[in-house]
Amino acid sequence: MVTHEIAVVPGDGIGNEVTESAMTVLKAITESNNFDIELDTFDWGSQRYLNEGEMMPEDGLDQLEDFDSVFLGAVGHPDVPDHITLSGLLLPIRKGFDQYICKRPNVLFDGIESPLRGYTGNEIDLVVYRENTEGEYADVGGREHRNQDHEVAIQSATFTRRGTERIVRRAFEAAVDRDGHLTSVTKSNVQTYSMVLWDDIVEEVSEEFPEVTVERLLVDRAAMDLVQRPDKFDVLVASNLFGDIVTDVAAAVTGSLGLAPSGNINPEGTHPSMFEPVHGSAPDIVGEGTANPLASILTGAMMLDHLGEPDAATEVRRAVDEQLAASDGPRTPDLGGTATTDIVTEDLLDWIRP
Ligand code: NAD
Ligand code: IPM
Ligand code: MN
Repeated sequence: MVTHEIAVVPGDGIGNEVTESAMTVLKAITESNNFDIELDTFDWGSQRYLNEGEMMPEDGLDQLEDFDSVFLGAVGHPDVPDHITLSGLLLPIRKGFDQYICKRPNVLFDGIESPLRGYTGNEIDLVVYRENTEGEYADVGGREHRNQDHEVAIQSATFTRRGTERIVRRAFEAAVDRDGHLTSVTKSNVQTYSMVLWDDIVEEVSEEFPEVTVERLLVDRAAMDLVQRPDKFDVLVASNLFGDIVTDVAAAVTGSLGLAPSGNINPEGTHPSMFEPVHGSAPDIVGEGTANPLASILTGAMMLDHLGEPDAATEVRRAVDEQLAASDGPRTPDLGGTATTDIVTEDLLDWIRP
């Protein structure tokens, strides 16, 4: 029997709460499938930073390298500036492991009410392919003349032909497997170098995929259209920052950030991929025990697909579908209910167990 070895980094805030739920569900799913999962938990995060001055050990990536996948909760703590926590843990893993696809699907589940009028179950079903290693997230820049009137900060974005081409190509491939429609999100009217390179590459790669219809939207318009006509999207491809922004919008129109999974994928498998929900550490609700665990559980399903366990992944997604479609099913407060994280998780286990 194959055993998948997973490095688990619950991280900060509700990351701990939802990761526990996801791991419980993953363990349960192995019982009806012919594989095992071994979980190794790492206490990396802001508490470690506050105690020891480091989010993760210096050789953190080496420690993760031999795992089949990494599962992350969330990073971010009100007592530590975000630029320290995130460049001390999350971003070095995405970049260091060349997880260049950030894949973020958003579905309006049956039984979930969109804040938008007129949409019912499964009428919104899109996936964002977000570039995940460069662009606006490049650690390039500096600050000079600190605290003087003429203080200057420069933050450069880095767009490479290779980096753009590979995410764009993967997004086209995804469109072929889905409804054959791709939306490229840019701001090439003002980002006249980087985003025009992006547009050129979309044009070039589109020639390899004549069956895919291509739409180009400026990011402001894309944000509006995601609210006004979310059902018309299929695959979106966007730079690191724009992908970050549109995936929060897409999560909101499909009901809640608490339902939005994400994978940071290195498709060549040269390093492990990392799976984490779209949401953060939610300091406003931490400790209340009411975080929605479903984003993290659906993230677990994405990881199962990646590990080559599509049947188990489908089983998890079916259980979530059925739980949400049940009119009397438990809901956490983000979905308008009063249930706790544990109640939702326990109930989900009943949908999984035969
Ligand atoms: P957030 O995603 O943590 O929270 C946004 C809002 O959504 C909050 O009101 C929160 O309560 C709610 N929410 C999020 N997840 C939920 C869930 N599972 N169930 C119910 N409600 C949920 O975003 P933020 O407030 O902008 O950021 C908080 C911290 O998290 C910051 O430090 C930020 O840098 C960090 N962050 C980390 C990640 C990550 O690690 N992947 C992602 C986003 C933000
Ligand atoms: C996300 C988060 C991260 C990002 C932050 C926490 C660095 O917002 O995963 O969406 O911007 O990628
Ligand atoms: Mn985000």
